[in-house]
Amino acid sequence: MSDSTPTAPQGEIVMRTLAMPGDANANGDIFGGWLMSQMDLGGAVLARHTARSRVTTVAIDGMSFLNPVAVGDTVTCYAQLLKIGRTSMRICVEAWVQHYTNDNHVRVTSGIFTYVAIDDAGRPHPVKR
Ligand SMILES: CC(C)(COP(=O)(O)OP(=O)(O)OC[C@H]1O[C@@H](n2cnc3c(N)ncnc32)[C@H](O)[C@@H]1OP(=O)(O)O)[C@@H](O)C(=O)NCCC(=O)NCCS
Repeated sequence: MSDSTPTAPQGEIVMRTLAMPGDANANGDIFGGWLMSQMDLGGAVLARHTARSRVTTVAIDGMSFLNPVAVGDTVTCYAQLLKIGRTSMRICVEAWVQHYTNDNHVRVTSGIFTYVAIDDAGRPHPVKR
């Protein structure tokens, strides 16, 4: 990791789960797609609470995987609201892992998720403030 890697998570906890064997790839490490889906769910928790409505994911930007996740690791997602547009919300989501044998908390990835507040028909509607 580079020197610019944050030593503490940014944002509020929106998801915590265990990485299970069924989430692993052929190398025995956890699939990036599984991790991304946990982050998407976590970001949606914050987006729904912000908009007080249904939301959908319209874009994911700037994601890179910095460290592998192992089966049995505790995965925690942190989310921080960056910007509210008319109907959209930009949310930074970070994923950190911890192995149960030690206290080390390591950031494995982060990304900017954009959610759009939608009505019951799936059409964008303004974020209530
Ligand atoms: C999200 C969706 C409802 C937006 O509908 P749309 O007709 O494109 O709506 P708009 O053009 O009015 O855009 C709505 C907002 O999204 C933003 N947006 C649209 N495309 C974007 C993109 N690629 N990146 C970032 N923001 C985007 C717009 O800037 C706008 O934000 P604002 O209102 O805050 O200014 C529609 O594209 C959709 O249903 N997409 C599928 C979503 C989905 O199924 N996600 C799960 C993936 S499996």
